[in-house]
Amino acid sequence: MALEIDQLAEALAASHAAIAFTGAGISTESGIPDFRGPNGVWKKVDPAEFTIDNYINNADHRARVWSQRAASHEASHEPNDGHHAIVELEHLGIISSVVTQNIDGLHAAAGSSIVLELHGTMREVACLSCGDRLPMGDVVARVRAGDTDPHCARCGGLLKSATVSFGQALPADVIEDAFRRARECDLCLVVGSSLVVYPAAGVPIEAKRAGATVAIVNAEETDLDDLADVVVRGQAGEVLREAVQKVRAIQAV
Ligand code: APR
Repeated sequence: MALEIDQLAEALAASHAAIAFTGAGISTESGIPDFRGPNGVWKKVDPAEFTIDNYINNADHRARVWSQRAASHEASHEPNDGHHAIVELEHLGIISSVVTQNIDGLHAAAGSSIVLELHGTMREVACLSCGDRLPMGDVVARVRAGDTDPHCARCGGLLKSATVSFGQALPADVIEDAFRRARECDLCLVVGSSLVVYPAAGVPIEAKRAGATVAIVNAEETDLDDLADVVVRGQAGEVLREAVQKVRAIQAV
């Protein structure tokens, strides 16, 4: 792994317009399970339950989702070394923005300036009819007060966390911006994603197609390892912490 981290550090040090593309694997060291790893969420529950159609048509499913949300709302997770390393790479003038599939808000909490959340955010709630948005805490308070299937106060529509469920469209402006950044970057640093969900996984492909270097840091094989110029098999926190130290040493010369 040492050789690959050297290759990663050299690629990062040579970049002036990198983007980071992250998935659930960058947050597991913060205590948030991923989806397809050895202890992934989809190994315990059926992803077919989490389609937008099931959410809209199945009141029992909605009640279960809101009850779990209300139980875990205050559970706080802190950014880990992986998130902090990406912020340091921004401060070193290497990474300009983060495109993430994650809904946990940890990149912003770590201090990344520009974060594109392709799959939305758990911090807010949206009305599926009128689009009205409100803080998750306000709706959790209603659920805890007995409103087990909260509807929009404005139009009566269904409320749902502002995350993108299977079958739901990604926010068009965000996905467009992400693909533009992929085309304009000179390096796409992919961290903690199995790269099996589209259109998100198209971002590193777009970067490669536009001539950027693609570097993947992941604990397991990914669907796009063959496309990458650098692949580092390891834990995101440790790998990125070491890579940043090596970049600093290269830049100091
Ligand atoms: N360091 C490096 N890699 C890790 C770590 C870690 N500490 N922990 C887990 N991983 C790797 C896993 O081996 C796995 O290959 O991160 C990858 C996470 O892949 P997924 O669980 O598939 O997560 P992600 O790629 O973000 O999923 C994309 O699928 O279910 C949907 O909407 C959900 O945004 C999610 C999307």
